[in-house]
Amino acid sequence: MAPAALFIVLALFSVPTDAQIKSDEGFISVFISSKGLGFVKDLLMHKAVSSLTPIELQPIEKIVKIPLVGQVDILLSNITILSVGVGTSYVSSGGAGVVIVASGGTANMSMNWKYSYDTWLFPISDKGAASVQVEGMAMELTLGLKDQNGTLSLSLLDWGCFVKDIFVKLDGGATWFYQGLVDAFKEQIASAVEDSVSKRIREGIIKLDSLLQSVPKEIPVDHVAALNVTFVKDPVSSNSSIDFEINGLFTAKDGIPAPNNYHKKHRAPVSCTGPAKMIEISLDENVFNSATSVYFKADSMSWIVNKMPDQSLLNTAGWKYIVPQLYNQYPDDGVNLNISVSSQPMLRIADDKVDTTIYSDMIIDVLDSGEVIQVACISLVSLREEK
Ligand SMILES: *[C@@H]1O[C@H](CO)[C@@H](O)[C@H](O)[C@H]1NC(C)=O
Ligand SMILES: *[C@@H]1O[C@H](CO)[C@@H](O)[C@H](O)[C@H]1NC(C)=O
Ligand SMILES: *[C@@H]1O[C@H](CO)[C@@H](O)[C@H](O)[C@H]1NC(C)=O
Ligand SMILES: *[C@@H]1O[C@H](CO)[C@@H](O)[C@H](O)[C@H]1NC(C)=O
Ligand SMILES: *[C@@H]1O[C@H](CO)[C@@H](O)[C@H](O)[C@H]1NC(C)=O
Ligand SMILES: *[C@@H]1O[C@H](CO)[C@@H](O)[C@H](O)[C@H]1NC(C)=O
Repeated sequence: MAPAALFIVLALFSVPTDAQIKSDEGFISVFISSKGLGFVKDLLMHKAVSSLTPIELQPIEKIVKIPLVGQVDILLSNITILSVGVGTSYVSSGGAGVVIVASGGTANMSMNWKYSYDTWLFPISDKGAASVQVEGMAMELTLGLKDQNGTLSLSLLDWGCFVKDIFVKLDGGATWFYQGLVDAFKEQIASAVEDSVSKRIREGIIKLDSLLQSVPKEIPVDHVAALNVTFVKDPVSSNSSIDFEINGLFTAKDGIPAPNNYHKKHRAPVSCTGPAKMIEISLDENVFNSATSVYFKADSMSWIVNKMPDQSLLNTAGWKYIVPQLYNQYPDDGVNLNISVSSQPMLRIADDKVDTTIYSDMIIDVLDSGEVIQVACISLVSLREEK
């Protein structure tokens, strides 16, 4: 379901330097397949149909010449679209944008009618209600998706609504009136339906766009970090799928700007296999490295271990036979392990493997009458290679 004016605005205020992230570099790519687009389309159609009704159309009045009767003044009022049913619909995307086509739609409407005419003796008038059935309603929308100021913006590039036929059922009224009504008003009712449905759709798209604009550009992760979900370029739509790129780097919440010397290595090939997925996401190694950088700088990569499955190890008594001196000096004192990462963990993704390197220190603390005494420090290097 969110995401160029930004660049224009930014370009006015900032002169890019080599140290800055190239504005079109996104470290997280999101690919929405045709299956995913279909799902979004169904969701939108459902929402649109339920928000389409009721629609009240403008009253229609006109003077109609009816054979044998003469000039009749007819007023249709309280013309209301009560319900809309969708037939079939499909979505496609390509150079022009995202195209949604719905056909075979129906609608049920109600209206009040009133007529009056003068005979040479006295005026005659009558009124009543009628129900109207709309058949073969078709709609076509072309939506444009753009990156505006880092969020996704949705615009309606082209739209149309077409009504094939309408059927009227009168409650009361004379037969001549029915024919006169249908002949004179069919087209007008159909085009009023087309106009009001199109208008509702335009309003719906504007609402949806403002909803997308309100999506935050940062998702808070915890008190230390936030994920930058700013869109970095216009979505690319092709072959019934859409590709988005978002910045995707972790930033520190304390406002210290993240180092911006990350460069995207290469477009990670999406290697998920199996049945078609709705969404495929690929992450650049810098997503991980920005996260470890933020947490490392925030001193959040240290852990105090004071609970273990074998709790006796967390007491000098448990070390009595291994390091007797420790026990002799601090008998029956608590032990904590203070593990901290000593340099920023790095991750490298190559075509066929992932390497991680983590340098960490483990300090053994003894808790002697409220005092923390560091008794040993062990340096650990963890190298991992995963294929
Ligand atoms: C107008 O139409 C609606 C829907 O059919 C109906 O509920 C309402 O009573 C009608 N109003 C008048 C004044 O006829
Ligand atoms: C319109 O009314 C008919 C008869 O009441 C009903 O069968 C049909 O489902 C309705 N259509 C919609 C779109 O609500
Ligand atoms: C872009 O975003 C900035 C701050 O978020 C805002 O001040 C500016 O008005 C926005 N520009 C447009 C064209 O939306
Ligand atoms: C578009 O999709 C068709 C069939 O799924 C595929 O054969 C073709 O290579 C695709 N084209 C592009 C540019 O991805
Ligand atoms: C988030 O990403 C955008 C686009 O790459 C960038 O302009 C912005 O400075 C980043 N925000 C932070 C807080 O780093
Ligand atoms: C854990 O060790 C780190 C690095 O030596 C130190 O900065 C931190 O204060 C220690 N924490 C505790 C609770 O001892």
